[in-house]
Amino acid sequence: MILGLSTVMVFLMTNIILQIENLSFTYPNRHQALTDISFQMEKGEKVFFHGSNGAGKTTLFQCINGLLKIKQGIVRINNRIVKSETERMKLISIVFQNAEDQIIAGSVFDEVAFGPVNRGLPKEDVVKRVEHALQIMNIEHLRNKPPHFLSYGEKKRVTIASVLSMEQEIIILDEPTAGLDGQQKEELVEILNDLANKGCTLLISTHESDFSLRCADRIIVLDQGKLLAEGKAEEIFSRYEIIKKASLVKPIIMEIYEKLLEYSYIKPHGLPKDVKEFSNLLQNGKTT
Ligand SMILES: Nc1ncnc2c1ncn2[C@@H]1O[C@H](COP(=O)(O)OP(=O)(O)OP(=O)(O)O)[C@@H](O)[C@H]1O
Ligand SMILES: [Mg+2]
Repeated sequence: MILGLSTVMVFLMTNIILQIENLSFTYPNRHQALTDISFQMEKGEKVFFHGSNGAGKTTLFQCINGLLKIKQGIVRINNRIVKSETERMKLISIVFQNAEDQIIAGSVFDEVAFGPVNRGLPKEDVVKRVEHALQIMNIEHLRNKPPHFLSYGEKKRVTIASVLSMEQEIIILDEPTAGLDGQQKEELVEILNDLANKGCTLLISTHESDFSLRCADRIIVLDQGKLLAEGKAEEIFSRYEIIKKASLVKPIIMEIYEKLLEYSYIKPHGLPKDVKEFSNLLQNGKTT
């Protein structure tokens, strides 16, 4: 009874929106892709998932979102167990790792409108949402093009826009930076920060550690379908055994920062997260 009350208190105090409990998943060919995964997320949190190819990131995302049927484990949204896959798909949007798997409509506009139209929103609301999403993703000029003729990175931006137009509280992005050029990646960081600041909860997979260092509130590392580690980027990327086991790459900024410290070019400061913070550190942190 006391435990129950304290659990409720923790929930109220921390604003937890998503809880995954003891999730395991086996594909029909008997390959066990996930084993006993548990974690939780607060509203507005950005959690980045790392792990080598085949570690289970995409499988985990598809189990959470309802594309794969869970037989073992629980997904709780806003402290309510949501068993139905269809309901989870309605509550959690996903940007697929491979844009080709997601695109179905004949034009970019229709693709981005697909979700809101399916929800039965009035036409003016649909148009408003689509225009806004196209603008955020910088693809207004592509609105009338058939998505299948677009470049890889353009398709990726279309699929992100089609998820933004749904305006969900929880969004999963499976390797969103894959195929994006430098400028688009920069803009994606701003977009994700903006979404999180507005209270959107984001689950993001990536192999790019500098992207995570810059943007993640927390990192979860998967290894062979199991949860290997969980923590702040700085902490995860300073643990050699995790880096080695999960085939991670230490962020370049962190490598350089540590070398500068080692050779006493700078005094210890907080780890800079991006080039701007790094250059401030070099300006202010000189030893001579
Ligand atoms: N449909 C399937 N049937 C059987 N096994 C599958 C299926 N899809 C994926 N797997 C296997 O499940 C494991 C996890 O794959 P998953 O795609 O979730 O990994 P991932 O972490 O997303 O990898 P990547 O970084 O390459 O995207 C892999 O061993 C993969 O071969
Ligand atoms: Mg994957």
